[in-house]
Amino acid sequence: MKKIIHLIAAARPNFMKIAPLYHALKAEDWCEVHIIHTGQHYDANMSDSIFADLMLPQPHFNLGIGSGSHAYQTGTVMLEYEKIVLEQERPDFLVVVGDVNPTAACSQVATKLHIPVAHLEAGLRSGDRRMPEEINRLVTDAICDTLWTPSPDADENLKNEGHPDSRVVRVGNIMMDSFELLREKIEAEKAPEKHGLEIGNYGVVTLHRPSNVDEYDSLKELMDQLIKVSEKIPLIFAVHPRTRNSLQKHGLWDSLSSVERLKLVDPVSYVPFMSLVKSAKLIITDSGGIQEETTYLNIPCLTLRENTERPITITEGTNELVTVDNLMENVDRVLNGQWRSGTKPDLWDGKTAGRIVKEIKKWLF
Ligand code: UD1
Repeated sequence: MKKIIHLIAAARPNFMKIAPLYHALKAEDWCEVHIIHTGQHYDANMSDSIFADLMLPQPHFNLGIGSGSHAYQTGTVMLEYEKIVLEQERPDFLVVVGDVNPTAACSQVATKLHIPVAHLEAGLRSGDRRMPEEINRLVTDAICDTLWTPSPDADENLKNEGHPDSRVVRVGNIMMDSFELLREKIEAEKAPEKHGLEIGNYGVVTLHRPSNVDEYDSLKELMDQLIKVSEKIPLIFAVHPRTRNSLQKHGLWDSLSSVERLKLVDPVSYVPFMSLVKSAKLIITDSGGIQEETTYLNIPCLTLRENTERPITITEGTNELVTVDNLMENVDRVLNGQWRSGTKPDLWDGKTAGRIVKEIKKWLF
């Protein structure tokens, strides 16, 4: 009998984490790998087109939970995933990834049903408990059976929280596997040219954290700064639905769309997005994953946050934390060639999925 493995995919940043693992497990003859999409992200450009880029099949189960409060998302995923496990298919092993609400929800369901659960991207800590993701990280790591980390700082965090060494395995950064899997397509995509941008002479913007985009004051201040930045270097801004809703609600959308050198586009799928990032002069973001991808590609990353759960992107990579007040001077530093070059952290090598397959086999046989 083949072993059944479930991979939980909920929101956009999860998809690039499960894809390499899905493909690696699919090639094994001892297991069947099934994707559970919780439906937290559901727009075509937040989900289907990214699945297609990553060559993922239709999810085997879709919980269809959609948008809602944290409690709604967490509770509904727990109820719906539990039904699948009890009534339709009990997996032999579950992998949850990242730090979104369903990561914490599904790990609770499975551990209580005595199914072994692994957390991929374990041990990251921002130290900022106001972020829902930090709570999800703490909850998930506290209960999972095995913790797969991307970097030594994550190992250290888990050790400090009292996890035994035997529970922690440094597997590397799975996102780099996705990039390498699709490198040829990304290089052939030529997204900058399609948007009329000159290679190496534009910036990419993404923003979606509630602390940056939900309230009028911070959003307006940020948009004013971006307009100023665009006078120095053209920007392309892939607008997350949360951000678009907020810009529209606060009456900022129309004036922003009329800024010529600040191009607003819908969320971009994985291949064209990485094509944009790869040839950019700089990135302005509050995303987690982009801090890592820019470190891998040696592109200056200006992160509009007070903290990061990915400090290795600062100590070894090309990332720096910036504020709305010093954004402009940091952009100038990049344009004047004063941004430092980074190095690729250990085990960010495109081979993480292979290491994980070996780990899963150790658990199951
Ligand atoms: C979620 C994650 C965050 C991650 C981000 C990536 C949690 C706690 N947060 O935040 O860690 O960085 O995904 O995008 O899990 N919406 C749409 N279409 C969609 C999805 C969302 O219109 O396909 C809109 C809805 O109005 C929704 C809002 O965006 O209410 C926010 O979506 P949600 O999934 O709740 O949180 P994100 O901000 O995307």
